[in-house]
Amino acid sequence: MRRKIAAGNWKLNGTRASAAVLEALVEQHPNPGAEVIICPPAPLIPILAGLGTPFAIGGQDCHAAASGAHTGDTSAEVLADTGATHVILGHSERRADHGETDDMVCAKAKAAYRAGLTAIICVGETEPQRDTGTTLDVIATQLAGSVPEGATPENTVVAYEPVWAIGTGRTPSLEDIAEVHAAIRDRLAERFGPKAADAMRILYGGSVKPGNAADIFAVPNVDGGLVGGASLKAEDFGPIIAAADATR
Ligand code: PGA
Repeated sequence: MRRKIAAGNWKLNGTRASAAVLEALVEQHPNPGAEVIICPPAPLIPILAGLGTPFAIGGQDCHAAASGAHTGDTSAEVLADTGATHVILGHSERRADHGETDDMVCAKAKAAYRAGLTAIICVGETEPQRDTGTTLDVIATQLAGSVPEGATPENTVVAYEPVWAIGTGRTPSLEDIAEVHAAIRDRLAERFGPKAADAMRILYGGSVKPGNAADIFAVPNVDGGLVGGASLKAEDFGPIIAAADATR
């Protein structure tokens, strides 16, 4: 039985005052059945982790190197040292804004493993790729390139995030989500064996809201959500955590 995950990706949002959001969420869900992970901007990690809540805290990116001459970057080791247990890698905004390739994402995932972090590795097709029927090929290529050897159900979570669904209010049909998630599990089984693949969590991300979370989380092979906009307010993310709890 895979434990559901409700992960919030705060992106470039939040300040120290956002600790109040986390506190409000914990008040709503002091003992969540689902695993709740909040991924704030890196400087807020020690502040949120320092609150000592039952929620996990994650980064949104890391450098592949542990240290060195890489101005402006943050290592997986520093994320772990400041209280993170997870890190989002290969988000489509990083792939687009920073030219991150599958190879780079794979190297970052290895860095996450080295530092003892769980990598949340993102894949997803663009709208033209979906329109031309290449979605499953695109996802297979991204998985093959971005997920390292050594991935286990403990150190790796896959997030399927159609690029065209992120921040747009649009989502694929539940059938389309089911098709992609089943394909992802098949690809993982080919590489890591059926037992490991069966235990790995696969999240859906892209315009998850309180109104659609329960339906999406009930789709076979959907093990929770990676949530952007709707993770910024307790009144939105609270019901999404509840949906993950209910469909566990
Ligand atoms: P969204 O973002 O929920 O705002 O669409 C999801 C994500 O980018 O992880």
